[in-house]
Amino acid sequence: MCGIIGIAGKTQAVPVLLDGLEKLEYRGYDSAGVAVITDDGTLRVEKCKGRIAVLREKTDEGAPITGTTGIGHTRWATHGEPSDINAHPQMGQEGIVAVVHNGIIENYRELKQSLERSGRVFQSETDTEVVAQLMEYYYDMYHDLMDAVYAMLSRIRGSYALGILSSDAPGQIIAAKKDAPLLIGYGEGENFIASDVTALLSHTRTVSYLDDDEVAVITPESVRIYDAGRLPVTKEKHAVEWDVSSAEKGGYAHFMLKEIMEQPDAVRRTFSPRLQDSRIEFEELAGVPDLIKNISRIYLVGCGSAYHVGVVGKYMMEKLLRIPAEAVLGSEFRYCDPIVGPDTLVIVISQSGETLDSMAALREAKRRGATVLAVVNVIGSSIAREADIVIYTWAGPEIAVATTKAYSTQLVLLSMLTVYFAEKLGKISSEDYGRYVNDLSELPGKMETTLGNIGNIQKTASLSFNHDSVFFIGRNLDYALGLEGSLKLKEISYIHSESYAAGELKHGTISLMEPGVLVVTLATCSSLIEKTWSNMVEVTTRGADVLALTTEDNVSRFSEEASAILPVPSTNELLQMNLNIIPLQLFAYYVALNRGCDIDKPRNLAKSVTVE
Ligand code: F6R
Repeated sequence: MCGIIGIAGKTQAVPVLLDGLEKLEYRGYDSAGVAVITDDGTLRVEKCKGRIAVLREKTDEGAPITGTTGIGHTRWATHGEPSDINAHPQMGQEGIVAVVHNGIIENYRELKQSLERSGRVFQSETDTEVVAQLMEYYYDMYHDLMDAVYAMLSRIRGSYALGILSSDAPGQIIAAKKDAPLLIGYGEGENFIASDVTALLSHTRTVSYLDDDEVAVITPESVRIYDAGRLPVTKEKHAVEWDVSSAEKGGYAHFMLKEIMEQPDAVRRTFSPRLQDSRIEFEELAGVPDLIKNISRIYLVGCGSAYHVGVVGKYMMEKLLRIPAEAVLGSEFRYCDPIVGPDTLVIVISQSGETLDSMAALREAKRRGATVLAVVNVIGSSIAREADIVIYTWAGPEIAVATTKAYSTQLVLLSMLTVYFAEKLGKISSEDYGRYVNDLSELPGKMETTLGNIGNIQKTASLSFNHDSVFFIGRNLDYALGLEGSLKLKEISYIHSESYAAGELKHGTISLMEPGVLVVTLATCSSLIEKTWSNMVEVTTRGADVLALTTEDNVSRFSEEASAILPVPSTNELLQMNLNIIPLQLFAYYVALNRGCDIDKPRNLAKSVTVE
């Protein structure tokens, strides 16, 4: 999704903006641009369709554009096709105001028509140009920029993170936010705005998060923040602990591969601080020790991979806690009139903490009186801030669009929560509790062993990359895992792929089984292995090719029918999916590599989906 960076400083702005935009590339974008207030006091905008590299070339790396205050943007098209004209920054027709914007102005059509009636001429198809034109309209009226900002904000509806420059206010950026993330970075003689902390890491680690309806005025020496009523606001400053290297590739060909390989460490970071003397302790839940005792229904809400974690969580929680648990898509939750009340726990799962549908579900759940517990990776993100309780995954920055290490850390956190709650309810024996804690401590080692099989997976992928259609089948937790394996494959390799509960295939989809189709059979849930084996035979009988993922001790069962086997070590069933996902991620990665795909930035996808 779109990204914003802005600097009010003393050095040349454009090189800083270009570097910052590159850090935001992972979010997915189709055009990019910068605007600076030049030394002669005019606004200069450079923008183009395509990659930052094109913008670099167009601006000659920014060197000839002198000016120390500027804003930059990566755009992921919503209103208007990706093009030079629709790229941000957008300017008002008088050239006094330039704007970058993340989000959607919902009433832009009516505003545009009304501005056109007053003689304003629009250049682009974007909703953002309305903001720039409206600013100039009110600036002409009030001759005061802040009056114009507040008047403009009172007219627009929708979501926005805005960075605004005016040639009449050199050395100053105005920022405003509603339902889209925006943060302020504090430097020495320079201050920043950004939609995402990764854009700022090489300049500062001290940040504040703007809240909805706040407006900030940023200069090299000062940051002033005001609320909706124009009263000054004092913001807390936060230290960001992520380091720069974790946002760089560190010798790997792709961020995705780096992040797959980082998973043992990421998972260790998630659980070790929460294991004390062989007990699971959640500091975050210390204030609500009896939370689970008052809960009679659990919803696990997320989008995409985070939803898939929710499906795993549903199986684990229902089995151990004996409380009805349902995984619901963030985009559906608020529209299905969910049965939610004070005895409901809604667990919102999100890497970015900014996914609009998950955020909307959170708000709906709170409105209906539920307790909302968020499992989030990005510290200080919107979902983290609005939830009643936030438990961070501490996976570190995830840059590749396709999630890997965030997914793994969410999985492990949900298994820990399940065991923690089960113990509170007296529904787990001390032997099973002890076994889980022991298996959890051994998990990173077993993940490393699984990663060590990379050569075999690479070879398997090189034999399978030209299938047009791939199905994933499994039962129970293996089914939940198949959802993620299938998504990983389709999103980065563009191969058509579906995931089914193994027993469901014969209710229709088996008609698609024929030579040339690949079926990835997931068979690690020990009590269901035989049943899944039978489903595998049903598809091989129809000529489909089978790749089997099973535990090391079950390899021989599958060796006759499967054309290739991906073995994984066995572990506690609550942690088994953390091992199983590794070969599926690597398989997707190498298939995509063989097909020459843009792995870290798959077409049409964005890292953080902040539109509905
Ligand atoms: C897939 C992927 C997406 C995200 C989804 C939710 O690899 O990354 O499906 O899982 O967009 O994003 P978050 O977790 O940021 O809410």
